[in-house]
Amino acid sequence: MFKYSETFLIAATYLVVKHPQISLAMFKLAANRQLALMAQNGVKAGKLASRASCYTQRNFSQSFKRFNEQQTPAPEKKSGAGSWLLISAAVAALAGVGYYIYRPTSKPHGKKLASVATASYVMTHENPEFKEEVHGGKSSGGASSGAISSSDDGLYKATTDHKSKEEYQQVYNAIAKKIEEEDEYDGGVGYGPILVRLAWHASGTYDKDDKSEKRGGNYGGTMQYDHESNDPGNNGLIHARKFLEPIHKQFDWISRGDLFSLAGVVGIQEMSGPKIDWRPGRQNLPAANQPPHGRLPDASQGATHVREVFKRLNNFTDEETVALIGVGHTIGKCHKENTGYEGPWSFSPNMVTNQFFDLLVNEEWQIKKWDGQTQFEDKKTQSLMMLPTDFALVFDPKFKKISQEFAKDEGKLFNVFAGAFARLLELGTEFPKDQEVWHFKTLEEQDS
Ligand code: HEM
Repeated sequence: MFKYSETFLIAATYLVVKHPQISLAMFKLAANRQLALMAQNGVKAGKLASRASCYTQRNFSQSFKRFNEQQTPAPEKKSGAGSWLLISAAVAALAGVGYYIYRPTSKPHGKKLASVATASYVMTHENPEFKEEVHGGKSSGGASSGAISSSDDGLYKATTDHKSKEEYQQVYNAIAKKIEEEDEYDGGVGYGPILVRLAWHASGTYDKDDKSEKRGGNYGGTMQYDHESNDPGNNGLIHARKFLEPIHKQFDWISRGDLFSLAGVVGIQEMSGPKIDWRPGRQNLPAANQPPHGRLPDASQGATHVREVFKRLNNFTDEETVALIGVGHTIGKCHKENTGYEGPWSFSPNMVTNQFFDLLVNEEWQIKKWDGQTQFEDKKTQSLMMLPTDFALVFDPKFKKISQEFAKDEGKLFNVFAGAFARLLELGTEFPKDQEVWHFKTLEEQDS
């Protein structure tokens, strides 16, 4: 019987002899894609050097390399073969690289995630701690301290009875180290992006005009409950909540709202993004406080919908809205099994950069022909994607001007994003006027 590798070699040799034009096309595709990646890496290397980020040297180079390797694994080596076999192996390798680069990534990836999702869903929702933990925290952290009151304008008051900055830095460090240790997640992207999405979705349900107990936002950490976590807009976030469970076990005094928002800060900062202002004091609210479904944005819509959602949140300006979406979508990727969309937005999905805007403004895009939701793909490599709502950021003239500016000025993007993201994480929360704003150190800053 032939082994898998031998069968592969024979098939590839057959392909070369019988259909040389197909092999050549595969080789060209592979070469183009590789050139594109090299070009992007070149740009990135320059930016990274100037930013002197620790994450770059230690984590990014490892995990981004891993991400690329997993997209383009090296073909198997064959030992002890005759020269004809070596030649066909070389050709097969090229064909193999072409195949691996352009294979639909959703299949194997989807399979892996689907099985993890089933297992973790059962695990999480059978965990009584997940449902019962409301006012029953164990110490003086944000979880349980005192009555929860909300002011006349419908803001929940943050508790002042919280732990020290050093203790929250310990939580930060535990999350950051776990991201580092589990960097193979999602094809080598790692957990950074999905933690940012979790923080955003936990906050993104807020309605500034809703004064009811279901007003949404991240104050009460209600994403921990079934109704909210089962909002179709939250598909896939089970992985992020499961990732954070051991952290919550270790630091059982932290409230869910503080944990979810802090995880977003860790994600941004450890992926070499800007420093994010953060304050503790959110308290757990009961399941009755879960917001209704349907408040998260619908990716198939345009600029009007995007403005409506970000106005409803807290009158975010156009500039803040564009910055939030563009930084959020420079990192991570879409997963067909979650949302019907597929693929990454940028060539470095675990680095915070302005690449989203550079690509959106400067590349040519076309509608992807496939069996999923309507999305855009870049003409050159057909390996990147944009959602319809992303495209609204160049389709709408006001948004477009801002996108063009961010494509040129990463510093400005980072400034606007940092302010808007901090505000997003605090929606619906009233902090004491004199409460200090904290900045946490990245792992690299603590190393040096
Ligand atoms: C109009 C607003 C937005 C829409 C319609 C939207 C839609 C989406 C969709 C459809 C996905 C794919 C999820 C999946 O298939 O797994 C996604 C992923 C993501 N979004 Fe957004 N989003 C919006 C705004 C934001 C904002 C403001 C942020 C953060 C500041 C953000 C951060 C992310 C991240 C990090 C991911 C990748 C998650 C991963 O890799 O698992 N998004 N978004």
